[in-house]
Amino acid sequence: METVTITDDSTGKSVKLEKKTASSGSPVIDIGQLQSKLGLYTFDPGFTSTAACQSTITYIDGDKGELLYRGYPIEQLAGQSSYIEVSYLLLYGELPNKSQLDEFNDIIIQHTMINEGITRFYSGFRYDAHPMAILCAVVGALSSFYHDSLDINNPRHREISAHRLIAKLPTIAAFSYKYTIGQPFIYPDNKLDYCSNFLRMMFATPAEDYEVNPIAARALELMMILHADHEQNASTSTVRLASSSGANPFACISAGIASLWGPAHGGANESVINMLESISSVSEIPKLIKRAKDKNDKFRLMGFGHRIYKNFDPRAKIIRDMCHQLLNELDVKDQPLVEIACELEYAALKDDYFKEKKLYPNVDFYSGIILKALGIPLNMFTVIFSIARTVGWVSHWKEMMEEDKHRIGRPRQLYMGYTARDYVAMDKRK
Ligand code: CMC
Repeated sequence: METVTITDDSTGKSVKLEKKTASSGSPVIDIGQLQSKLGLYTFDPGFTSTAACQSTITYIDGDKGELLYRGYPIEQLAGQSSYIEVSYLLLYGELPNKSQLDEFNDIIIQHTMINEGITRFYSGFRYDAHPMAILCAVVGALSSFYHDSLDINNPRHREISAHRLIAKLPTIAAFSYKYTIGQPFIYPDNKLDYCSNFLRMMFATPAEDYEVNPIAARALELMMILHADHEQNASTSTVRLASSSGANPFACISAGIASLWGPAHGGANESVINMLESISSVSEIPKLIKRAKDKNDKFRLMGFGHRIYKNFDPRAKIIRDMCHQLLNELDVKDQPLVEIACELEYAALKDDYFKEKKLYPNVDFYSGIILKALGIPLNMFTVIFSIARTVGWVSHWKEMMEEDKHRIGRPRQLYMGYTARDYVAMDKRK
């Protein structure tokens, strides 16, 4: 066993801690005995140096710009796989054979409808509610409808809940959009594949025929594959922490959606478009870069930077490459936004501040442009990210529940408040 010795210089006491080797990437120090042997906790706000769990799902090498799902490079999956196949891979650990894939696809299709009672929830929301707010609430409410399979200690129950979540998210998401624009819900059509079905539920109306554009469906599928999982990011860690108390999977995924919504995480795709649209000409770019570098200005270049990727985000590279091709294929006229995005990227990449801090375009920098080209409204961007990421969240939840032993997540703190003091009666207070 390899060890790392930690010595507390103030007491001279030492502890030998086990160094655990990873199959890829940095080893970790098991600090479990630090508190019992030295009376110390670690302090790591933002978890920049903390591995919170053991996992076999996704691997990221931030320096190489490498992303693997169950060992398979994202470039190969994006080029050759389907979202349903990737979902199977994430959930079960291996690529499916033909019959496994057909069976999985059939199961997901069978679960695309939602209990009709859920549709009545929608009318309780304000007409102009953000679809992410609706998504969060409706997904949380699923546990009140599907409590026939909520025993988290029963593997079959866990599997049914996982299938339900993956299958129902597109339906719930599309209904959230339809409600906010005052159109009737379009029910799933199970003859269609996962992404085509979602596009139809979003854009069809009962009044007209609607044909899904296969180029749009393939582009969406690619986006979904790229967003399917990303190791222990904020929303996945939120799902894991919520699950650690034994909470039901619908409540935990709802917590994950809430975390994803923030602009530093999944909400960035929406913020990128807002930022690009606020730039009326490329001549304004230097001013924007200057603002992003100003310590006294809270403004950040949205779609830039990543906690892990310090070279490039491989997902951004794939999306960037497909962006021009897709816009041409779809005959999209909105090219000025792409021009501004390319210029902004060019200007940032040659700027010393961005170079020194290793800030590169992330997955969200170009993804908004593609979603916009597909006719997806801005407030649905993070919703689509949520649909794609559901399989990742569910896979992490399933992995955690399958562990022999898991304990409730309960971090400690560096307390800097008052030490104990006596209660002061009202008439004695200043
Ligand atoms: N524009 C300008 N400066 C930046 C940016 C940016 N986009 N991102 C980081 N920095 C600076 C930051 O000010 C800090 O400077 P200093 O060291 O002088 O204080 C330094 O770079 C490190 O930043 P950090 O906030 O400590 O880094 P982090 O790892 O905690 O945050 C991040 C990562 C993605 C939240 C951050 O880069 C950011 O806010 N980016 C913009 C939002 C964004 O695009 N989010 C999508 C992330 S990818 C999709 C996903 O995973 O959800």
